Amino acid sequence: PEAELQARFDALIEADQRIEPRDWMPEAYRKTLIRQISQHAHSEIIGMQPEGNWISRAPSLKRKAILMAKVQDEAGHGLYLYSAAQTLGISRDEMTEQLIESRARYSSIFNYPTPTWADMGAIGWLVDGAAICNQVPLCRASYGPYGRAMVRICKEESFHQRQGFEILLELSQGTPEQHRMAQEAVDRWYWPALMMFGPPDDESPNSAQSMAWKIKRFSNDELRQRFVGMLVPQVEVLGLTLPDPNLRWNEERGEWDMSEIDWTEFNEVLAGRGPANAQRIQHRRDAHEDGAWVREAAAAYAEKQAARDRV
Ligand code: 3HC
Repeated sequence: PEAELQARFDALIEADQRIEPRDWMPEAYRKTLIRQISQHAHSEIIGMQPEGNWISRAPSLKRKAILMAKVQDEAGHGLYLYSAAQTLGISRDEMTEQLIESRARYSSIFNYPTPTWADMGAIGWLVDGAAICNQVPLCRASYGPYGRAMVRICKEESFHQRQGFEILLELSQGTPEQHRMAQEAVDRWYWPALMMFGPPDDESPNSAQSMAWKIKRFSNDELRQRFVGMLVPQVEVLGLTLPDPNLRWNEERGEWDMSEIDWTEFNEVLAGRGPANAQRIQHRRDAHEDGAWVREAAAAYAEKQAARDRV
């Protein structure tokens, strides 16, 4: 009976055990995992675009090779996460449809343009740095396939973050023009990177339940604070500054005081009215349409194979 199944589920969560695809789970648990994992996968796939934009214009062969490897990793992370979401009963086609019909969320951060090469450094250092802060705790998410996918993804994220830091360090120590380019990129990406962690805790409708189910291990504001604490010493080494004159450590509160985040901008981007939302979805839609013939050919080939095996 349901009550017994619910009790068993609650006991597994209580004991910090994994819930696996074949285990009974409350529908709401399944639903929120499909929501979060599919959005996470969409973020990885859309996230390929801002960086892909610079592969053909990288300043050296070394930088081009590194950027290609990173974008390829993002694609792999996306496919990994779509597979994890599929274990919950949603199909790949359904998730793809939701994305190209603008019915799916993906991380706000990918709706900003990348006007200079220094953005590749800022994205690696700030966006992948924020992703690491957010994804390391997700390695312990109660849903098995999600937590295990995170372990593999986090390993590659640290390479992504390091190469971004290195790009910024080289520019910062270069000509005055290069130094200025690096500083402008940090100024452009700092606040949107803080928004990646989600709305403030007292305006986060999913957090309480997500933490009770041990999907989310730390609150949005806790991880945001942890991320800022990571950036302060690193921006010193870079010889750059963070664009928040009010940022300072508050001893008695044991946390960083910072300027108000522009939540209007956040809500605008989430509503699809960010600088590059339409362009990102259009690009994904075009790629899907351009790839239709490959999917049809593969399906026809598989059908022929199956028919041959049947004789
Ligand atoms: N962008 C878009 N939507 C966001 C958002 C953001 N930065 N922050 C919050 N939201 C949405 C939530 O999805 C939720 O909407 P929904 O109920 O329709 O899904 C709403 O705003 C309220 O936010 P909550 O805090 O209540 O929602 P969550 O508990 O889901 O917390 C989250 C938001 C922290 C982003 C959480 O979903 C999460 O940890 N997701 C997985 C990690 C992820 O997606 N990271 C961003 C991608 S970066 C990346 O992967 C690429 C990297 O490799 C470079």
